[in-house]
Amino acid sequence: MNDTILRVEQLSVSFATEQGRLAAVEDVSFDLRRGETLGLVGESGCGKSVTALSIMRLLPQPAGRIEAGRILLEKTDIVRMPAADLPGLRGRRIAMIFQEPMTALNPVHRVGRQVAEVFHLHRPELDDRAVAREVMAILDKVRIPEPQARLNAYPHQISGGMRQRVMIAMALAARPDILIADEPTTALDVTIQAQILSLMRDLQADTGAAILFITHDLGVIAEMCDRVTVMYAGRIVESATVRALFDDPLHPYTKGLMAAVPRLDWPSKTPLTTIEGTVPGLGVMPPGCRFANRCPHVMERCRHSPPPLTEVAEAHTVACYLYR
Ligand SMILES: Nc1ncnc2c1ncn2[C@@H]1O[C@H](COP(=O)(O)OP(=O)(O)O)[C@@H](O)[C@H]1O
Ligand SMILES: [Mg+2]
Repeated sequence: MNDTILRVEQLSVSFATEQGRLAAVEDVSFDLRRGETLGLVGESGCGKSVTALSIMRLLPQPAGRIEAGRILLEKTDIVRMPAADLPGLRGRRIAMIFQEPMTALNPVHRVGRQVAEVFHLHRPELDDRAVAREVMAILDKVRIPEPQARLNAYPHQISGGMRQRVMIAMALAARPDILIADEPTTALDVTIQAQILSLMRDLQADTGAAILFITHDLGVIAEMCDRVTVMYAGRIVESATVRALFDDPLHPYTKGLMAAVPRLDWPSKTPLTTIEGTVPGLGVMPPGCRFANRCPHVMERCRHSPPPLTEVAEAHTVACYLYR
């Protein structure tokens, strides 16, 4: 098992909609290993956040439902975990940071109090003075300048980049084994984004937490991840090491995403290409390969039955009839 800490097995998730229950995630499987960063990439609407929320058992209720599959945290199946055990799972075992920290921070409490709460909750052995020390130490660790001033601020009084640092500090305070980062830098401008990514890399080296890093941006995957899983319209289309994916992308969707990443070795006027069309909505999924109607290589059989995921090289799998 080469030290797998989290194994998602054939996960399928549905939502109640006006057209009935529709699948948002279908038959998704991947492993997260101790200490690694696994990327989950795909355009908006591909099922990345639904996958993450399933792992945290935070799907909107009662609309969202896990229909099938297992999510094994070591030997425990999160899908079947009793509700009473969930508070011990969230934060302590698996922490999550979101694209927009304002959704997770409480607007009416000062930053310092919110960070302290995490310590009180997950490290009950610490007394108030020890918590105060830990809060200062962790704000320092996430490189928040003038931490004393920031402690007394309300979330809306600090910048988006600082709020994301506070979120990361709160996530780390519980010393989780796994950190899920769902587009943590998408809302930030480029300079701040680079700082946050560098911070996350350093913290991972320091804490050894495994990270599931979710983004629509392959450029960010290249900087952050060891391995990568590409999702399209609720399914996995390709999985590989980052190296193999960039050296030899196989799925036409992956190639399309790749063409949209700016490259340093290209002349500055080279236009970036985008994949034409959009991700199909839940009610209008094509019966065969879900990428068929956007694919430059589409064949007749792609429209009838979905291509299975196949290992085409060591640890490199793809779901595409071009490689069958
Ligand atoms: N609460 C919900 N009710 C109905 N459909 C939803 C809900 N949340 C997400 N979806 C649908 O599930 C699909 C996957 O969404 P999501 O996981 O948020 O995509 P991503 O994070 O990759 O952008 C999309 O088609 C989205 O519209
Ligand atoms: Mg999302």
